[in-house]
Amino acid sequence: MNLFTPTVLGSLDLKHRIVLAPMTRIRADENTLAPTALTALYYSQRASSGGFLISEAVHISPEATPVWSIYPSVAELGGQVPGIWTDEQTDAWRTVTRAVHLRGGLIACQLLHAGRVAQPEIAEHPLVKDSGLPTPSVCSSATPIRQSDEKGNDYNWDQQAVTPRALEKCEIKRICEDYQLAAQNALSAGFDFVELHAAHGYLIEQFMADGVNKRVDEYGGSISNRCRVLFEIVEALLDVVGNDRLGVRLSPVSSGSFCTQQYFGVSDSSPETLYEFAVKGLNRYKLAYLLLTEPRVDGLSGYEQDSQALLPLQNTKYRELFQGTLIGAGGFNPKSAQVAIDKGEYDLIAFGRWFLSNPDLVMRLNNGADLNVYHRDTFYGGNEKGYTDYPDMLRLQEGSCYEYRQIAQETIGSRLKTIL
Ligand SMILES: Cc1cc2nc3c(=O)[nH]c(=O)nc-3n(C[C@H](O)[C@H](O)[C@H](O)COP(=O)(O)O)c2cc1C
Repeated sequence: MNLFTPTVLGSLDLKHRIVLAPMTRIRADENTLAPTALTALYYSQRASSGGFLISEAVHISPEATPVWSIYPSVAELGGQVPGIWTDEQTDAWRTVTRAVHLRGGLIACQLLHAGRVAQPEIAEHPLVKDSGLPTPSVCSSATPIRQSDEKGNDYNWDQQAVTPRALEKCEIKRICEDYQLAAQNALSAGFDFVELHAAHGYLIEQFMADGVNKRVDEYGGSISNRCRVLFEIVEALLDVVGNDRLGVRLSPVSSGSFCTQQYFGVSDSSPETLYEFAVKGLNRYKLAYLLLTEPRVDGLSGYEQDSQALLPLQNTKYRELFQGTLIGAGGFNPKSAQVAIDKGEYDLIAFGRWFLSNPDLVMRLNNGADLNVYHRDTFYGGNEKGYTDYPDMLRLQEGSCYEYRQIAQETIGSRLKTIL
């Protein structure tokens, strides 16, 4: 078995197992919070025949939406994160899915409610002001994001920690409906799959983890109570999208050494038990896939600092627990991805940063070509620079001079080893 062994996702055929990991790029139109023509170009560049792409996080409502432009680094470059609750946003996403389908690819829409990571500033946006729609920030409990831990790690960049409002029990139904509207829009926009983003410290994890969730009703306390929101939202989404078209992303962590990854300050006292419960519970549904983030992930660093990528996989125990298709993400390089597929640790591998900088990653992995090295400063916000201007092999062969460095695939791991 290798990365190019065909497989099936839900009921759709894939020609290979290389997936574009969901990546927020903050290039949406600032007025409409909709993707632009550049977004369509970005995804179509990465599409391949029988290949699977997952969109960046797409926000289900104003209440779900962070305003990254409050960060000076993003404000300088401009851009916003996209939504999918208006007709205009839905229409704009249709141009993205069409562009991907034209190249024979499949694409999922990753739906996100950021919970306490979203900022109240969105209430002032013309699209939201006077709309009567609920605004941020909400959470399982009124637990603010800790701004930094004892090591000085800043969980929330330079944002002031606003104390969120604890959602009322009766509001959870409304949130399920927001997810359903977004999923309906995603299907109408032509997405092949919908993915529930239940990872990385956003709303659903803010319910799952007892470091944040202090509720005393049936959504707090025991692990099964804390996972209730996850399962209720999955069920609400399945009602709209049907079997085999819904994926879920989780980011299991454990308490051992480097696995104590925390996303936006979310922590749990017994993470192994929590994620085992969540993963096993998902077996009740006919999901298209489960995407797991490896806790070694260090997705924000630039290439030179990326010393975690060779740490061993930690999620392999979920292979035994989950009965469906498993996609892995987090620190894979061409070689380690191939090994994970070969050993059956994952069915598919999602690449983040290497796909970001290599629009034709699939072809390059197939023929062993050098990879463009990614440019950290343009991950978030801005224009085509660092977004759609990474050259494909054809452009490189034309001999034009490009500013992006190339690296031989076989040296990626060894180079990181010298840093470790
Ligand atoms: C710029 C950037 C934006 C990201 N945005 C998202 C996102 O919107 N949703 C998500 O689930 N993960 C997001 N991630 C995490 C990636 O999906 C992936 O797990 C991470 O990059 C690790 O994979 P890699 O080591 O192959 O880059 C992001 C990562 C990067 C680098």
